[in-house]
Amino acid sequence: MTSRDRLSAASERTSPPPISTLMQMALDTPGLISLAAGFVDQKSLPVEAVARGVAAILSDPDEGRRALQYGTTIGDLDFRTRLVEQLERDEGADPGAFRHVLPRTVVTTGSQQLLSLVAEALLDPGDIVLVESPTYFVYLGVLETRGAHVIGIRTDGDGLRLDVLEHTLVDLEARGLLGRVKLIYTVSEHANPTGICLAESRRGPLVEVARRWSKRRRIYILEDAAYRGLTFDRADPPSVWRHDPEGDTVILARTFSKTFSPGLKMGYGILPGPLLDAVLRLKGNQDFGSSHFTQQLLERLIADGSYERHVERLVGVYRHKCNVMVEALDAHLGPFEDVVSWTRPKGGLYVWLTVPEGLDTGPDGPLFSRSIRAGVLYVPGAYCFAAEPGPLPRNHARLCFGVPGDVELEDGARRLAAALAECLDLVA
Ligand SMILES: Cc1ncc(COP(=O)(O)O)c(C=O)c1O
Repeated sequence: MTSRDRLSAASERTSPPPISTLMQMALDTPGLISLAAGFVDQKSLPVEAVARGVAAILSDPDEGRRALQYGTTIGDLDFRTRLVEQLERDEGADPGAFRHVLPRTVVTTGSQQLLSLVAEALLDPGDIVLVESPTYFVYLGVLETRGAHVIGIRTDGDGLRLDVLEHTLVDLEARGLLGRVKLIYTVSEHANPTGICLAESRRGPLVEVARRWSKRRRIYILEDAAYRGLTFDRADPPSVWRHDPEGDTVILARTFSKTFSPGLKMGYGILPGPLLDAVLRLKGNQDFGSSHFTQQLLERLIADGSYERHVERLVGVYRHKCNVMVEALDAHLGPFEDVVSWTRPKGGLYVWLTVPEGLDTGPDGPLFSRSIRAGVLYVPGAYCFAAEPGPLPRNHARLCFGVPGDVELEDGARRLAAALAECLDLVA
């Protein structure tokens, strides 16, 4: 590119999404079992409910025309009212308990748009964002575009480690950088990529830490609850957002992509007051409102109970698929369990695999090429870590049980074990 063709600084610092190369690889390799794509189960997508909802909207010409018209930037009032009511049910709160957040509830094109708008509203190059380590790698891409300084905070089986968070804040203050810390990002339920939830006992204290350290300027928490509702055998605990009744610290991001249909690409956020106007201004410039038709559709499907019935069925589907995957990993990777481990998720779509430290799972490492040869694809774990504090862990992989059927899940685990067996000989 010549200097005449120079693009914006933001676009020049944006790397190509790592996952697109993986997706191409999956398409180019016939017979490859992809445990990489974070797609949802194809067979259970709600075709009948959506067909009924669309037909109902279009059967009334006035309603049909209204749905086919532009809406508003913040989103349709009836839909937002349903969202708040649904949130009350999801959170086990009394009807009407969240009515006051309706004016701060913004409809977005998937939750990804909210994540991106919040980053745009808050972050200048060099501003600091603290993320779980590992974290949702697409969000790392968003932060890269903003030029943010991203620092990973260690996690354990209960999610974000608050002691490490505190320690990092102490260190940043000592280095005169506390005023640049703007955001703590957490995927609170069945995280992408680990499948781990932030423990209930850490949720209130996390809000307390953010408040206590908002000395120079407000440190917001962005709670990305993309997988909320997909919990196998218990009710979800109150979200982090519930621990912020003042509504000034936690941004809640929700989506219908995982619990209903990513093709509808509908999400929403509840924003603290000072962020609301900024996000709406930016969204106004971007699209001045998410699909009005899809909002009408989901409004109906929530109102007539189709949405909740679907989530209930879907939880059964994913519980089964998760069991198949974990049992297959137990069977095939069991012989290596002294040196290899994998999570046992209680919901969501992901299993996180850990292999010995010397074994690089990345695209140029030995496991990846052997896995492709064996006919299975995974997401290299290194994509999911911020560069800081380093060194980048290279011995993990994300496995998704969303798309493959039982036979493929079983076969995928067998193929992965075959590839691993060859590599463990190498590192032995
Ligand atoms: C943790 C997390 N957040 C947000 C998203 C964005 O999804 P959508 O924009 O479809 O709501 C995803 C999608 O994979 C995700 O895994």
